[in-house]
Amino acid sequence: MDFFELINKRESCRNFNKEKKVETQLLEKCVQWASLAPSACNSQPWSFVAVNEEKTAEKIAESVQGGGFNPYASQAPAFIVVCKEKAKLLDSFEKAGADSNSFRENDLGMALSYLTLAATENGLSSCILGWRDDKLVRAALKLEEKKEIHCVVAIGYSADENPPRKKKRKPLEEIFSVIE
Ligand SMILES: Cc1cc2nc3c(=O)[nH]c(=O)nc-3n(C[C@H](O)[C@H](O)[C@H](O)COP(=O)(O)O)c2cc1C
Repeated sequence: MDFFELINKRESCRNFNKEKKVETQLLEKCVQWASLAPSACNSQPWSFVAVNEEKTAEKIAESVQGGGFNPYASQAPAFIVVCKEKAKLLDSFEKAGADSNSFRENDLGMALSYLTLAATENGLSSCILGWRDDKLVRAALKLEEKKEIHCVVAIGYSADENPPRKKKRKPLEEIFSVIE
């Protein structure tokens, strides 16, 4: 797939094929590719927990369904929970007063982009799920209380047979300006 085809094909999947299991090796590969994302001072302030087992996946699905949101998460056969780790910036940055965690959100966003694109390139579909109850995620994964969670990503094979939806995006005139 060329790059444009890949970014156009990636879309948030809300219709997973629950019966089609995901190979754990494929999840590992996606995380390996996500770890190639850039990060401030190469601090890589992330870790990833793949859930590819039915009972735990059900608990993760519940953790993103408070208030009736994300009902389709129950159809996802697997999840990758992206956690925030402490960022260690270059000493010179920290000495200059930079907060070591100040770039983390950007870093994690980059990793999420890579992760979802990696999933698409490997024939999988994904949906980033920002809405969640961290306590339930921690309980499902038996994570310690202080573990910070960045995002839950549902992963699986799509049950959609149609080509990718047309992207709904702001027009270029609204988001782009140039000084030349
Ligand atoms: C940080 C973040 C949080 C999101 N949380 C949810 C969510 O809780 N539930 C959901 O269905 N989609 C969620 N999405 C997906 C967005 O709705 C989706 O990316 C956007 O509508 C554009 O559609 P596309 O991904 O299909 O191109 C989230 C996306 C991001 C980046």
